[in-house]
Amino acid sequence: MKLPAFELERYFARYEFKTEFNLCPSDCESFSLSELLSMADDESRTLWENLRLEYTESQGLPLLRKEIASLYTGLSSENILLAVPEEGIFLAFNSILEPHDHIIALTPAYQSLYSIPESMGCTVTSWPVREEKGEWTIDIDGLEALIRPTTKMIVVNFPHNPTGYMPTEKDFLKIIDIASHHDLYLFSDEMYRFLEFDEASRLPSPCTLYEKAITLGGLSKAFGLPGLRMGWLASQNSTFLNICAQLKDYTTICASSPAEILSLIGLRNKERILHRNRTLLAKNLKEVEKLFSEYGNLLHWTPPKGGSIAYPELKSDISIETFCQKAIEQYGVMILPGTVFGSVENRFRVGFGRASFSEALKQFAVFLKNWKG
Ligand SMILES: Cc1ncc(COP(=O)(O)O)c(C=O)c1O
Repeated sequence: MKLPAFELERYFARYEFKTEFNLCPSDCESFSLSELLSMADDESRTLWENLRLEYTESQGLPLLRKEIASLYTGLSSENILLAVPEEGIFLAFNSILEPHDHIIALTPAYQSLYSIPESMGCTVTSWPVREEKGEWTIDIDGLEALIRPTTKMIVVNFPHNPTGYMPTEKDFLKIIDIASHHDLYLFSDEMYRFLEFDEASRLPSPCTLYEKAITLGGLSKAFGLPGLRMGWLASQNSTFLNICAQLKDYTTICASSPAEILSLIGLRNKERILHRNRTLLAKNLKEVEKLFSEYGNLLHWTPPKGGSIAYPELKSDISIETFCQKAIEQYGVMILPGTVFGSVENRFRVGFGRASFSEALKQFAVFLKNWKG
């Protein structure tokens, strides 16, 4: 297995810590260690104060797995395996897929969701998230036509990176139904869950509804705790989780012990953390929509339905790479070209989950004002 460069991650590696204004992060504002610890209840504070920096249980701290399982109706801690989010994708695909399998995956997409299967020798059919009448959509009715005799898995990610698209619950249940009817695995990347703009539109996690569904969750985005590197796979399928656990012995073996306790504190303060981040997102979203409407001749905004990112279009013959490069080099504003998602459209990603967003947006406005494309 030979993996290609991960274009998005390489772009971040190049610019994230060297560019003054980051206008494309995918995470929400992070918490400081002391802020997080100040939220600890008696039990987790005692665990933190007595923490030994030892190896931890390979499946994950039982108390933490119990807390994670409570996010999913009907699941218990036995249905949860801790993994770094990115590692969870790697473990799941390597546990299920074999060369010559066929999978169906949304595009554009976070690269590992299609590059890992491709590198394993699988064939990947793109299921495009596209704009129609000013809104993001996918062709749910066309899904069955993409299925082949060798199809083993459907890969989805809602709210979607980079578009912020979410199907209705009715449409999502159709996807689960199709997977179940054709006996396919359904890998559901839910890294942006809990960031739905309308909470009533939150989708059920397929791992609660279908035996061959696998959910990827984590604390990097909605919870503003990416530095903990904490995520999990949730599934009713114990055989699948056992194979992932065996494979994890070759990746990280177990989670970091401080990260486990801090994650427990984060999850036990879920409502407070999510309220803070959703409030920030709503404020930032208004600001970015206002700026984009002012520059409607140059930029086209396609509204997200959830998440902390959006995927607008540059209405110009100038390539999106040049546009982003100029923003970085001349104005110190980092935006992410759609080419890193394998997209041929002239789109770029903006991220509006951080407290520094207004400042970065102001600088982007200066760039737009002076743009002579
Ligand atoms: C859709 C999606 N899945 C998985 C990940 C991986 O999460 P992490 O970087 O916390 O490992 C990301 C990160 O950006 C993502 O956007």
